[in-house]
Amino acid sequence: MFTRPGGRTRKVRVPVDYPTFPPDFLWGVSTSAFQIEGATAEGGRGPSIWDTFTATDGKIARGEDAKVAADHYHRYSEDIALLGELGVGAYRLSVAWPRIQPEGTGKPNAEGLAFYDKLLDEICAAGVAPVVTLYHWDTPQPIEDAGGWLARDTAERFGEYAAIVGERFADRVKLWIPLNEPMVMSIYGYGIGEYAPGQFLLLDALPTAHHQNLAHGRAVQALRAAGATGIGTANNHSPIWTVTETAETEADREAAVWLDALLNRTFADPVLLGSYPEQVHPHLPANFADDLADIAQPLDFYGVNYYEPQGVAAPGEGNPLPFELRAVEGYPMTTNDSPIVPRGLRELLVSFQDRYQQRLPPIHITENGCSFDDEPGADGLVHDPERIDFLDGHLRAVREAMDAGVDVRGYFVWSLLDNFEWSKGYAPRFGLVHVDYETQRRTPKDSFTWYRKLVRHE
Ligand code: NOJ
Repeated sequence: MFTRPGGRTRKVRVPVDYPTFPPDFLWGVSTSAFQIEGATAEGGRGPSIWDTFTATDGKIARGEDAKVAADHYHRYSEDIALLGELGVGAYRLSVAWPRIQPEGTGKPNAEGLAFYDKLLDEICAAGVAPVVTLYHWDTPQPIEDAGGWLARDTAERFGEYAAIVGERFADRVKLWIPLNEPMVMSIYGYGIGEYAPGQFLLLDALPTAHHQNLAHGRAVQALRAAGATGIGTANNHSPIWTVTETAETEADREAAVWLDALLNRTFADPVLLGSYPEQVHPHLPANFADDLADIAQPLDFYGVNYYEPQGVAAPGEGNPLPFELRAVEGYPMTTNDSPIVPRGLRELLVSFQDRYQQRLPPIHITENGCSFDDEPGADGLVHDPERIDFLDGHLRAVREAMDAGVDVRGYFVWSLLDNFEWSKGYAPRFGLVHVDYETQRRTPKDSFTWYRKLVRHE
């Protein structure tokens, strides 16, 4: 129990049998630039593909955009004070490429660098270690106009951008993540068009996976050359579950192997093993093998973003793909339509350990979280018991995976703040802190108190 700044007292308990984590376990929270910053036309920032996408009719729920978002660009001091109050060891944020290179290439924008200078200095002053993602999907529009991730050249441009950011900030950053979830960019952005840049290429989107993997390799090289340490990645991974009404068939199992190759292995294998699963070979650029050594740079950690298992079945008649996506049913759901399945995280971590063995560096859970319809109640507080249950269940799953021998070193809640959830707009609220988008008032939810007690051992 502790007293909040408003003077009200809240009782949020951490269960006494809480599984213990090592004393140096890194507790954190995550955000990304486009989802919280706003100020998209300030500070010399150039346009990004998400500005273009949000301005296109019918792409975002209720026609929402991120011109203001959580107004973090102006309110970052207040948000960093919340981080300090939370007591986390680390804060994962992303740098917006279009703030650093408004044209996507060439000389850096001094105002953009100055913004992140101030931000990183304040985070460090709050006793929190910055974890920096270089790219969380906000490609500068001029880079997209030149081909985006379909163009191999984008990987080279990304390496130059990584060098600029590394040289400027390596002295303050604890961990580095070159690209966030390249799978989502490839599949949702270029494969099925639900996210920017909105292309519908199905498996012809796979060159974008290779070029992002190469960009990862180039960025790791550039960051190391700039003296950065603590370099990893952050990939979204899901255990793939066959979901069949009747008995599971051999065709269902083959579909699951294919989908696992596409969603998980196409992004983990090249980075960890220097190879691609054979299923995707025909869809990659012709000389992909020449880049594998550059992609498979040694890493200091591997970041796993986990939300849910993915259901799959054999493709029906007329389906051009070798699998059919299915919902995993029978679990409580978040407002982002994710089934809540903590044991999926343990299964995923253990299967990663089995698959990659000594090639797998220590793991950080770089994102895990959930959205609900959180709103302040009559008492002015935000009670979110479902989120506490979610975090509790998933942390127990992490602990079980550690007990089974998986080397997990940290856990980051997605997210510190409610924010712009891409094509779903502002409706899914993922924050430990509620944001009233009318007033920009921040209200820590009960889960904030719960997490604070956990990380501070209160
Ligand atoms: C993963 C993404 O990195 C993040 O941007 C997104 O908000 C969360 N998933 C929740 O969907």
